[in-house]
Amino acid sequence: MKPILQHIKRWTSRDNRWLALPCTAAALFVLLVMVKSCQGIAYNFTNECRIYKLGYPIEEARILAAELSDAQVDSLIARQEHDTIAIPVIHARYYIADNFDRYLAYHKKDTTGAPLDNIIALVNVGYDRDRESSAVPCDTSKGQLMLVNGRHYLDENYKPDTLVTFSMDYCYWEQKARPVVVDAFLAMQKACKEQTDAQLMVNSAYRSYQEQIGTHKRNPKGYAARAGSSEHQTGFALDITSREHPMRWPFDKSVEGVWMREHCHEFGFILRYPEKQSHIFGFAYEPWHLRYVGKEVAKRIHDEDITFDEYYAFYLDKK
Ligand code: DAL
Ligand code: ZN
Repeated sequence: MKPILQHIKRWTSRDNRWLALPCTAAALFVLLVMVKSCQGIAYNFTNECRIYKLGYPIEEARILAAELSDAQVDSLIARQEHDTIAIPVIHARYYIADNFDRYLAYHKKDTTGAPLDNIIALVNVGYDRDRESSAVPCDTSKGQLMLVNGRHYLDENYKPDTLVTFSMDYCYWEQKARPVVVDAFLAMQKACKEQTDAQLMVNSAYRSYQEQIGTHKRNPKGYAARAGSSEHQTGFALDITSREHPMRWPFDKSVEGVWMREHCHEFGFILRYPEKQSHIFGFAYEPWHLRYVGKEVAKRIHDEDITFDEYYAFYLDKK
C-alpha cells in the first residue's frame, strides 16, 4: 500500500497536477464502461432475457420473469417456443400460480379449442390428471366445505357425528341430514311455499357408504357417484323434488325448480351439478341435487357462477 501512496503523491506533485482532473475523469469513464458491460453480460443470464430470447416480446418477458418461479422459467424455456396463452393465463381470474405449467401443457394437448377460462377451470379441478392415481382422501376437517368427488374420496367408515330425521311432511320415506341442513331446508321450503305455493320435498339425503354402493349400481352411468365419492355420505347433500312434480324431470323447468335454482343460495345451498359445467365436476346435470355450504359461500358461488370444485381449488386449496 505504502509504495502506491508514495507513487500517487509523486505523480500529483506540482508538475503533474494539471493532469489530475482529466485523468481521473478518464479513469471514471473506463470504470463506468466496464460496469455497464458487466451488467450487459449478467443480463444475458436473467430470466427476463432468457424468456425474451425464446421469442416473447420484452414486456411479456418482464411479466413472466416477475410472476414465475425459477423452476417454472426453466420448464418454459424447455418448451422452446412462444406459447400464446402464457400471458393470458397469468391474467385469468382464477389463475393459480402453481398450475402454470399444467395450463400450458393442457392447452398444447387440447384439440377442442377449449377457451382459456375452461382450461383454467379444468386444470384447477385436476381434470388434466389421471383420476385414479391423483385421487386423495377428502379433507373432512373442512367441515361443511369438505370436497367430495371422484378425486377426493371418503372412506367407508366415514359418518357424520349427528344426523337429524326430517319430518314425514317433507319426505316419502325416512331421510336424515346434518342438523344445519335440516334447518336450512325448512327455511327454504317455507319461503318456496309462500312464493310459489309449491311444497319442496326431500327425495334423498344422507346415504352411507354401503347404501351408495346400491345407489351406484341401480342408477344410469353419470347419475350416481361411486361409493366414497358421493356427497350424500357427508350429510350435507339433498336431492329435492316437489309434491307437485314428484318425478325428477321436468323439475328444473317447473316454477318451484326455477325458484330453487335462483334462491337456494339465500339459505346456504348451491346447485352442486349445474347444467353448463358438467365437464368440470364429472357427473350429469342434476337440477335436484343441493349441497349445503353456508350462506356466505353459497352466495359467492352463485354470484361468480362457478362450481364448488372450482371454488374449493381457488379459495380453499390454493397454496
Ligand atoms: N348423484 C350424485 C352424483 C351422487 O350420487 O352423489
Ligand atoms: Zn344427490
